[in-house]
Amino acid sequence: MKFTPFSGSILHLLSFKSSPFLIIMIVSAVIMLLQSCFFNGEVALENQVIQKGNNYLVGSSACMSCHSDIYNDFIKTSHKSSTMSPSKENIRGSFDEGKNSYLFNAYDGVLMKHLDSGLYQVNFYDSKFVKAYPFDMVIGSGTRGQSYAYWVNNQLFQLPISYYTNEDAWSNSPGYQDGIANFGRVIRQQCLSCHSSNADLITDVNHNNQGFEKSSIVYGINCERCHGPGGNHVDLFTQNPVYKGGNLIVNAHNLSNQQQLDACAVCHSSNASNPTTASAFATGDTLDHSQVQTNTVKKVDVHGNQYGLLLESKCFTNVKTMTCSTCHNPHQDQANELVMFSQKCMECHLPETDKFCKMSNKIEASVLKQNCIDCHMPNTESQILNVKLDTKETNTSAVIRSHLIKVYPTKSKDISALFMQTKLDSSMLPTN
Ligand code: HEC
Ligand code: HEC
Ligand code: HEC
Ligand code: HEC
Ligand code: HEC
Ligand code: HEC
Ligand code: HEC
Repeated sequence: MKFTPFSGSILHLLSFKSSPFLIIMIVSAVIMLLQSCFFNGEVALENQVIQKGNNYLVGSSACMSCHSDIYNDFIKTSHKSSTMSPSKENIRGSFDEGKNSYLFNAYDGVLMKHLDSGLYQVNFYDSKFVKAYPFDMVIGSGTRGQSYAYWVNNQLFQLPISYYTNEDAWSNSPGYQDGIANFGRVIRQQCLSCHSSNADLITDVNHNNQGFEKSSIVYGINCERCHGPGGNHVDLFTQNPVYKGGNLIVNAHNLSNQQQLDACAVCHSSNASNPTTASAFATGDTLDHSQVQTNTVKKVDVHGNQYGLLLESKCFTNVKTMTCSTCHNPHQDQANELVMFSQKCMECHLPETDKFCKMSNKIEASVLKQNCIDCHMPNTESQILNVKLDTKETNTSAVIRSHLIKVYPTKSKDISALFMQTKLDSSMLPTN
């Protein structure tokens, strides 16, 4: 067995002075440790019934039989995969030798290892095994990246190594100081309040957070996170399929605009929004807007402040009925459907009227119509989803769409230059 370094002299130090005995000792120590220390408690993945007042959670697969079209679309969304169980399939990063390490410095490093007992982040210091920590939970579908967490009894801790999709590489976790492996960051409420559908807290007599009720955790942002508990609704229509006296479930359509916006803003207002609010919030509630980050920060961020930015846009301030559903279908994965989104713009910015794009005298309307988005909602670097790759000197940022819809002269210049240079070659644009 050999740990193949992938580059550079630093990795030489991590080749563990190539002693096969040392490595065997390390691996057996790892396995012994794993068997003794870690309690791999079960979490409620799907289908587990969880009482909520007079109603109960039943999981999204309970909706499949009667709402099969919505369900089949929904399972492809990143909401569905925003938290997942730790399998090799769900973890996007590589466990293959040569691609499974992250080095903080010449001494401190982590190897991602697939052992008989599971998947681990194994910490080494100065070529010596320190400790192995299990991947117990995956946070993030992997569109841009993933972070991971492990349990110690009922406390959840974030692992220091995350995955960065754009470079297909392991990175340090966003917000972590570079240069040291830190396995001590407790996850209190902040991740699961936005990345899961349910996570009940254990509190002591002084209301101090003592961790999570593991069996209450429901992975993903599922039907019931947006529609409220579905137990009574399912019972009703299972027993009486033609009942017309009410649905016993939240119908977003009947809510006020602000309630509809809040149902998304609770998680899409940047992580400055209060996690206690996020976990207690149910669709139909109205947010305390003093807690929601709006116009104070205009920068784009993961944990993307889509709500705050949209609020600043003239499209929004001039149209009282605009909600997230004006452009998004919450049941579908619509990533990269720029032609479809551009059609949404043109429902208000009708072509051949003075409401249409002012560039139409310079660029043919048929070209503009393909993609309003890159010029008016440009991809912008995130300040928070910002990671250190051990192969690069400086940090790398993920890009996110700005929901501040306006004219961006520089971006437009770059993009129209592209149009002009290629003599409006439509092959450069997305096709339907
Ligand atoms: C046994 C069949 C059945 C199951 C299972 C079922 N539903 Fe429904 N659902 C219905 C029917 C029937 C309607 C339409 C009622 C109507 O037309 O007024 C409906 C309507 C809805 C509506 C729209 C409500 C409205 O007022 O327009 C929502 C939202 C909904 N269901 C969500 C869910 C969710 C979430 C689940 C899973 C937890 C689920 N349903 C499971 C039968 C079912
Ligand atoms: C419980 C928190 C929560 C709620 C409520 C919520 N979202 Fe999200 N949303 C997330 C998280 C977390 C992600 C990132 C998922 C991932 O990739 O892991 C996300 C991702 C998305 C995406 C990105 C899809 C992609 O990858 O391109 C869209 C679009 C979106 N949400 C729209 C909405 C809309 C519209 C609503 C309201 C109807 C809403 N969300 C409600 C938490 C939430
Ligand atoms: C206030 C809600 C909120 C909180 C709290 C939150 N997130 Fe997120 N997270 C989001 C949303 C929304 C997105 C989708 C990105 C966007 O909006 O552009 C996201 C995206 C991500 C992604 C990228 C997912 C992908 O597939 O691209 C990762 C990884 C992630 N979050 C991890 C975490 C971790 C770890 C924590 C806790 C330390 C956390 N998040 C806390 C709302 C939240
Ligand atoms: C991110 C939040 C979110 C998730 C997750 C979600 N929905 Fe919805 N759902 C909505 C919103 C918002 C509407 C209202 C759409 C509108 O305004 O057009 C809606 C509408 C509906 C309706 C009414 C009919 C329709 O199509 O408008 C049904 C039925 C429904 N959802 C079922 C489901 C089921 C079943 C699931 C899971 C498989 C699910 N929803 C997941 C937010 C969500
Ligand atoms: C529901 C209707 C509606 C939709 C949908 C809509 N807009 Fe607007 N938009 C407006 C209105 C109304 C204004 C204000 C017009 C004015 O000031 O004369 C506006 C203003 C704008 C402006 C000028 C902003 C400024 O700061 O000067 C741009 C650019 C724009 N919209 C682009 C878009 C794009 C791109 C989309 C699609 C992603 C879109 N709009 C979707 C209604 C809409
Ligand atoms: C005027 C149309 C419009 C409205 C309204 C709108 N969005 Fe978007 N949204 C878009 C477009 C266009 C994209 C880019 C899709 C892509 O590039 O794949 C997008 C992308 C996203 C993404 C993915 C981020 C990324 O960088 O890929 C999230 C999350 C999101 N929207 C959430 C929301 C939420 C939450 C609301 C309501 C507060 C909202 N959007 C309102 C048009 C809109
Ligand atoms: C190549 C980049 C580009 C594309 C593509 C584009 N726009 Fe524009 N748009 C601009 C620029 C630049 C301006 C400002 C023009 C000026 O003021 O001379 C503008 C102006 C506008 C305005 C008027 C803003 C104001 O100040 O009142 C609206 C509305 C608009 N665009 C909507 C759209 C819509 C809708 C689409 C898609 C059908 C679109 N644009 C496609 C670059 C673009």
